[in-house]
Amino acid sequence: MYGIDSSPIRKAFELARTIENPINLSIGQPHFPCPPNIIDAMAEAAREGKTAYTLTGGIPELKEAMARKFLSENGIKYATPDRILVTSGISSALFLLFNALVNPDDECLVISPYFLMYPSMLKFYGAKVLTVKESFGTDDLNSFRKKKIKLIIFSNPSNPTGKVLSKEQLTALANLAEETGAYLISDEIYELFDYDKKFYSIGKDYDKTITLTGFSKTYNMTGLRLATILAPEEVIKALTTLQQYTVVCAPSVTQWAGIEALKTDMSSYIQDYREKRDFVYESLKDFYPLEKSGGAFYYFLKVPIQDEEFTKLAITSKKLILVPGFIFCENKDHVRLSFATEWDNLKRGMTALQELSKELAN
Ligand SMILES: Cc1ncc(COP(=O)(O)O)c(C=O)c1O
Repeated sequence: MYGIDSSPIRKAFELARTIENPINLSIGQPHFPCPPNIIDAMAEAAREGKTAYTLTGGIPELKEAMARKFLSENGIKYATPDRILVTSGISSALFLLFNALVNPDDECLVISPYFLMYPSMLKFYGAKVLTVKESFGTDDLNSFRKKKIKLIIFSNPSNPTGKVLSKEQLTALANLAEETGAYLISDEIYELFDYDKKFYSIGKDYDKTITLTGFSKTYNMTGLRLATILAPEEVIKALTTLQQYTVVCAPSVTQWAGIEALKTDMSSYIQDYREKRDFVYESLKDFYPLEKSGGAFYYFLKVPIQDEEFTKLAITSKKLILVPGFIFCENKDHVRLSFATEWDNLKRGMTALQELSKELAN
């Protein structure tokens, strides 16, 4: 446990609480409310007495709805209900997967920058973490071909950069998985936040892909704990056994809400975030080296001083809360900015960042 450092995130949360009227661009969840039809479905399920344990693997109705979603939205044909496990958020999915698959000294490949939980939890299980930059080309994977890699994991679109991996990159990862026998884990929690329609589910082409789909970000259900794992049947069997003795099942009423969520049109929310994505780019492109974010609701901003110094300065001089980049990669020269916030807050944040850039240049 001493090897897992959660202090940087805790520090940011604690600071946010002590500052009056902060400009908080550190939040990793949507600012819009969970749509009312989803809440109604959950309340209805509770009133109907659907509060008991569900089947370990999830209610069949949700698994069937997910199978239909995989086919119609992701183009994944083999996504039958027996290849799907419903669990309590992607965090639980990672816990189940790493417990079931990872042995001490296994080499695991993580695309960098990464979601903090991947390397932290992999190290917790004794794995050796290898990284490759998200801008990789097929040739950059050559050095891994001779290795015995246990798993490859990435989030697409990415937390923290908003990068949407290209089909060529995903195919190269699938080929590497096939050659090395590695499990390929595609965390697609931000799939709907795809502003230029470039998102591609590699599970469509590579049927051994382990696809993680979350409800947390898409419908603002972060506290309701719901996700699914789509994987080959033998993996699902192992994870279901493990879930039986650990997570037990995803919350029952949340699973019923999930079925309603899948029928909900989120396009107006996504459009709002697309406009915010563009606004941030236009506001900062002359002040920081910047590539337009393609998805999720983040920018990973290169800053002119060390990341922790920059985040401290942003808080003390502008009341602006950002997350230092070192928790997402090996470098210390980026900060993560979330544009999942109200327009007022975002505009104040952009002004503060423009001022900071000018002040640091002087
Ligand atoms: C890439 C990624 N995966 C998984 C999670 C965790 O999601 P869940 O709420 O489903 O546990 C997050 C949350 O920040 C995330 O950014």
